[in-house]
Formats: sequence, structure tokens, C-alpha cells
Amino acid sequence: MMIYDSCPVHRSPFTVHRIVIPDSRLMSYSKAELTQLVMPNMQNVLGDLFGGHLMAMVDQAAAVAAMRHAGGPAVTASIDRVDFRERIPVGSLVTCCATVDFVGNTSMFISVEVYSEIISTGERKRTHTAAAVFVAIDKDGKPMRVPRLIPETEEEKVRYHRAQSHREKARQASGR
Ligand SMILES: CC(C)(COP(=O)(O)OP(=O)(O)OC[C@H]1O[C@@H](n2cnc3c(N)ncnc32)[C@H](O)[C@@H]1OP(=O)(O)O)[C@@H](O)C(=O)NCCC(=O)NCCS
Repeated sequence: MMIYDSCPVHRSPFTVHRIVIPDSRLMSYSKAELTQLVMPNMQNVLGDLFGGHLMAMVDQAAAVAAMRHAGGPAVTASIDRVDFRERIPVGSLVTCCATVDFVGNTSMFISVEVYSEIISTGERKRTHTAAAVFVAIDKDGKPMRVPRLIPETEEEKVRYHRAQSHREKARQASGR
């Protein structure tokens, strides 16, 4: 178990408490879901959700999952991939579901699945997927160790091994 003092500079929830970090957390602990109504000010020239808004939502959902797992602040290190498969029209609900799939020492590998829903019919479909890496930081902005990740269900174990192998390939490619 680690204990660290929170940042004295910024006024945020992280600044007021001393945070206790466990050695491990269940994968289910940090899952995050973010739902938003697609408003007219979020549209592109075709009347669908603008990709930049979606990327901000993806980043935010991933940040919630990362910070829950880390028990404190974490920053986006990279967004590897966003696949846009379907348009999301104005008036739809859009939901981003983020899961921490794998962790290194200080980094967390997060997948975000995006669903759109037509409110009047209840029709819901998966429209996008994304993968991001977040890094937990300490009060000086330096990378900080995160709890080990424990997958429980078969689905979680598949996610874990898939992300682990993706990370190995990315590391070999980047030489990191
Ligand atoms: C991300 C950041 C904290 C990494 O700091 P650093 O001193 O370069 O870190 P290190 O090289 O020691 O690497 C720390 C970890 O991050 C991982 N990492 C660093 N950069 C990465 C990248 N671009 N993609 C994936 N992983 C990365 C490393 O593999 C390492 O993982 P591990 O500890 O699990 O083995 C730093 O680059 C930073 O603060 N970047 C700005 C973040 C930001 O402003 N984001 C947008 C707003 S939230």
C-alpha cells in the first residue's frame, strides 16, 4: 500500500486529501461510463456528431477509468487508435464505456467503446472503438506506480491478454 501527499499547487479533489493507494484493484473497479445528448452545437457540416467532440468524450471517459484505477491524477500519454465506423446524428445519445485493460508500472492501457442510441426507438449500436494510454503522475508531475490489475471474468481475461500483447508489439515498434 502506498500513501502520497496530493499536489499543493492546483485546487482539485486531489489537493485536499492524502490518498491511500492499494497494491491491486479489480478490473471492474475502474470501469467508467459517460453519456451525453448530441446537441446541435456538437455537429459537423453533415448534421452528425463532430469527430473532435467524440474524441474529447473518449479522452474524458478514459481519464475517469485511469484516475479511478490510479486513485489520483493521470494524464493522456497517447491515443493509439480511434475507428469511426458509423455516424451519430444530432439528437442521439452517445455513451463511452472505458475499461482499464492492462497496466504497466505507471501506465494504463484503456479501451473505450462508443455506443449511439436513438431515444425514440431505443435502438443502440456500437459505433466506434478507441485505445488510449494514460500515465499516473505524482505531485511533481512524475510517473507514479499504479496498482496491479486483476481481471476476474473470462471476458476481462481476454481483454487483459489482448492489451498485454498489443503493448508488447507497440513497445517493440517504438523501442520503449
Ligand atoms: C506521459 C508522461 C507523464 C510520461 O513521462 P516520462 O517522464 O516521459 O515517462 P517515462 O518515459 O518514464 O515513461 C513512464 C511510462 O509511460 C509510458 N509512456 C510514456 N510515453 C508514452 C506514450 N507516448 N505512449 C505510451 N506509453 C507511454 C512508458 O512506457 C512508461 O510506462 P511504464 O511505467 O508502465 O513502464 C509525460 O510525457 C507527460 O507529462 N506528457 C504530457 C501529458 C499531457 O499533457 N497529456 C494531455 C493532457 S492530460
